[in-house]
Amino acid sequence: MNTIDYTTIDPSKGAPAREPERQYYFIAKAKEYLKKQSQEAGRPLTFCVTTFGCQMNARDSEKLSGILEQIGYVEEPDEEKADFVIYNTCTVRENANQRVYGRLGQLNRVKKKNPHMMIGLCGCMMQEPEVVEKLKKSYRFVDLIFGTHNIFKFAELIVTRMESKRMVIDIWKDTDKIVEDLPSERKYSFKSGVNIMFGCNNFCSYCIVPYVRGRERSRNPEDIIREIRRLVDDGVVEVMLLGQNVNSYGKTLEHPMSFAQLLMEIEKIEGLERIRFMTSHPKDLSDELIEVMRTSKKICRHLHLPVQSGSSRILEKMNRRYTKEHYLELVEKIRAAVPDISLTTDIIVGFPGETEEDFLETMDVVRKVRYDSAFTFIYSKRTGTPAAVMEDQVPADVVKDRFDRLLKEVQHISSEVCSIYTDTIQEVLVETVNDHDSFLMTGRMSNNLLVHFPGDESLVGRIVPVELKECKGFYYIGELVRES
Ligand code: SAH
Ligand code: SF4
Ligand code: F3S
Repeated sequence: MNTIDYTTIDPSKGAPAREPERQYYFIAKAKEYLKKQSQEAGRPLTFCVTTFGCQMNARDSEKLSGILEQIGYVEEPDEEKADFVIYNTCTVRENANQRVYGRLGQLNRVKKKNPHMMIGLCGCMMQEPEVVEKLKKSYRFVDLIFGTHNIFKFAELIVTRMESKRMVIDIWKDTDKIVEDLPSERKYSFKSGVNIMFGCNNFCSYCIVPYVRGRERSRNPEDIIREIRRLVDDGVVEVMLLGQNVNSYGKTLEHPMSFAQLLMEIEKIEGLERIRFMTSHPKDLSDELIEVMRTSKKICRHLHLPVQSGSSRILEKMNRRYTKEHYLELVEKIRAAVPDISLTTDIIVGFPGETEEDFLETMDVVRKVRYDSAFTFIYSKRTGTPAAVMEDQVPADVVKDRFDRLLKEVQHISSEVCSIYTDTIQEVLVETVNDHDSFLMTGRMSNNLLVHFPGDESLVGRIVPVELKECKGFYYIGELVRES
């Protein structure tokens, strides 16, 4: 959490032009407005940020929460009770969008009963012009709409809304800007996501992310290291380095640097215990990175390596720029270097033109690689992407049948793969008290598998040895090994 000395900011003066100073000025200004509002209401006003989509969005939401807390809003986990509700949206698949519209209708009913209520929408969906048109027309009760490129302006936009009492919309098409040093409020005290790059230049033909997140830009390594050092000083032991394609980190920097080199620098940070990253694109996974993973003491034994399809023909249509054979060779190379690595993946079923033979190639990859787990998705047509206008869209019933067969295979394999650690002792980072049983603690092994074991809350944030007693398919029941 960054701190700022508010006594040096005079909100009655003009706003500074430079970032992040400008936003700290608006935080101070919003704080004054909010104070008045809470006096009127006779209670503190609350906020709830609801996150859809990936880890990028989760990290963005922590920044939104950080700004809201600095303004003086108090967090309220139940969105129907909160005075300021923000939806940080995702549009990677159509069903993500539908959920947002459905829940907005519900929120409107709540808003009618609460005169202090504001609704803000941001994230990837807002970068689609049709979405904003629809909101402007049929969802007039929304107060604030902004996109993925100007999230740093949140405080400024809140002030604009508080002063105008009208719907405020601010969407940027793209940006080359990275604003550092804004507040953020972490969900966990002991682990944190850290953006290392933004955007994506890969244009996989099915994917909307490059259109809504803009061109790829890497943060300067010094800024990343400085952020992680601060996090470690604040109690963080595990970081998740975030980017749509971390393997191409640094290529566009003034002084280019590879992802493997960045990892070596991060490894040196004292007090940091675990390093994770996502997502790796197979086409850019270098031998240098494999070597760094092999020798590292801190990089976790887990690699998420989305394959998307096992058919080289479909991979070409997807613009993934690797073949089935290349992918399998890569897996072999990684396993030879890091034998205990856990591999996970993403798979799309029903890409346009996918035949039964293509699908069987995907099943073949799943059987050959034997993933620890796999996220399986039904292809979703995204307007504006090349795949949306491809011929031979696969009929829904055929896709459903393939999806079910794939899921069954993936689950069967992963339950076998996961059980191999039974009766071993593993280092576990303790995360929370178990949701269902308060006598159990829940933690994560280096390979990302969950472990539940009897313990107490004082263990949260610590890395402890746990003996794995029983595998329950996707998680373990274990026992804390007491130091003698
Ligand atoms: N940058 C990451 C993926 C981000 S999106 C990567 O390249 O691996 C997360 C996953 O959503 C993708 O891996 C893909 O499997 C899935 N996905 C993306 N677009 C999709 C679409 N149009 N339909 C179905 N699944 C999709
Ligand atoms: Fe989408 Fe491909 Fe970029 Fe991943 S690499 S975000 S799948 S375009
Ligand atoms: Fe969704 Fe945007 Fe992430 S579209 S998957 S939230 S980058």
